[in-house]
Amino acid sequence: MNSPAAPTPPTRDHFKFRWDVLLLAVFLATCAPSVTGIPVHEWVSVAIVPIVAIHLAVNWNWIIDVTRRSLGRLQGEVRFNHVLDGLLFVGFALLMVSGILISESFLPSLGFARRTDPYWNNLHNTTANIFPSLIGIHLAMHWRWIVGKLRGRTTAAETPGGAP
Ligand code: HEM
Repeated sequence: MNSPAAPTPPTRDHFKFRWDVLLLAVFLATCAPSVTGIPVHEWVSVAIVPIVAIHLAVNWNWIIDVTRRSLGRLQGEVRFNHVLDGLLFVGFALLMVSGILISESFLPSLGFARRTDPYWNNLHNTTANIFPSLIGIHLAMHWRWIVGKLRGRTTAAETPGGAP
């Protein structure tokens, strides 16, 4: 079977959109450590973890549904979104782990000694340079849904597979 996940109810869809706006705003704030300074960068980046967790939770039905069907036939756009979301997840995990390992403020505040490690530093900077492009593609893939929400439409029907 290759039918899309059930449409999201309007109120939940509305919440999802507002949450996505919050996530995007906080993400943009993490992308400019030279503007915010490293301590703010680190604490805002740590704060994004529960925001991402809730973003995943509200899209959980789609994730499970498409993952279950991913070994069979899937609409091309749905498969692309699924692979892209997997890359985003791995990229985010690398960003967070490498960021925490080179942290100048977060780890020391928990009592761990600050350490400089060029490997994790390079990994963090490289992932940080690639990750925004993945987010850009993710947004582009959901553009119809985003424009629909901005125009006040209430369903996820504009996106093949419903979400996320
Ligand atoms: C959404 C997650 C994150 C994003 C998008 C992000 C993004 C960035 C960017 C764009 C830079 C500058 C890279 C460059 O100069 O080329 C940077 C540097 C840095 N980030 Fe993150 N970061 C994230 C998470 C974290 C976390 C969780 C920590 C620590 C708790 C952290 C600590 C640092 C540190 C210490 C630097 C300076 C590295 C250096 O001196 O070269 N980051 N990050």
